[in-house]
Amino acid sequence: MPHSLDQRAELAAHYDLTPSMAAAEATRDIYARMERVVPLADWAVFAPYVIAINRLKAQRNAVILGHNYMTPEIYHGVADFVGDSLQLAIKASEIEADVIVQCGVHFMAETSKIMNPGKIVLMPDMAAGCSLAESITATGIAEMRAKYPGAPVVSYVNTTAEVKAASDVCCTSANALQVVNAMPGDTVIMTPDQYLARNVAALTHKRVVWWEGSCIVHELYTAADLRAYREHDPEVKIIAHPECTPEVVAEADFTGSTKGIIDWVHQHKPAKAMLVTECSMAANIADELPEVEFAKPCNMCPYMKMITLEKILYALHTMRGEVLVDPDISDRARVAVQRMIDISRAAA
Ligand code: 13P
Ligand code: SF4
Repeated sequence: MPHSLDQRAELAAHYDLTPSMAAAEATRDIYARMERVVPLADWAVFAPYVIAINRLKAQRNAVILGHNYMTPEIYHGVADFVGDSLQLAIKASEIEADVIVQCGVHFMAETSKIMNPGKIVLMPDMAAGCSLAESITATGIAEMRAKYPGAPVVSYVNTTAEVKAASDVCCTSANALQVVNAMPGDTVIMTPDQYLARNVAALTHKRVVWWEGSCIVHELYTAADLRAYREHDPEVKIIAHPECTPEVVAEADFTGSTKGIIDWVHQHKPAKAMLVTECSMAANIADELPEVEFAKPCNMCPYMKMITLEKILYALHTMRGEVLVDPDISDRARVAVQRMIDISRAAA
């Protein structure tokens, strides 16, 4: 990827990207979905990019998939489909357009390519990784298999294609328990998130053994912090992601995937909610739920935040940043992802 100043100059030569109240006015309907969290002055900066991206998307026959952790101007402004990792993996397999722009992190783009290999999958920033995906390789999977012979390997989708290919099945935070329960035998290996594994271990009769990876965003929350917040504000509902420690999960009123969290808040509409996850989650649903006050703190994922409107426009403009997966690895990884989808569907 070129330096961002070169990127900006290249874009300025082709698009009018100067902050504009006229552009902000012309996109009022989109802005209405994030008015509570994005100041109008900021929208005047974003709106020219949103207009340019949405036009270019049609010209390139492209679809933008956005994870729930994208910032509101991406989530509401340019994404065609938003969701958690499971929803995005399923959606990727159904896309008919020529191009998928993955607004999320690299493993999500690989999953889209694995599930729909005939499409061009673009990543606006190749450096958008994930501490979990970086914590294990296929060699790590082989080590776990040697340590626990015969035990099936359930790998979180937050892994590289190579790790998925070396695993028996994948899981996401939305279906980890279902997938583990569907495995044969008494012992199940879960990689690479030790906290997701420990949270599942507390709910299943299987013996769960795990790899020692963690999410740098969710492991920052502590049970003591949450107890202090609840003491300060007994009304607050605490809603956590299962990448948090079991101690944090024990403090929560509800634990679920990013989609599970959004659904829970919509269903229960608590007067105050603290989303123990990435900051954009609350920002993206704040306007849909004016009756809910979202309490801080939240933690930011530095990888997810690498994706910006400017980089999305640049990817679509240049068609650079294509994610490729070795076909043999892709075929094996698809078996693991598809098995997970089949188990989820059967359980639903
Ligand atoms: P979800 O599958 O719940 O969206 O989680 C993905 C992720 O990276 C959370 O940190
Ligand atoms: Fe990875 Fe954690 Fe960021 Fe999700 S929030 S992408 S698990 S580092």
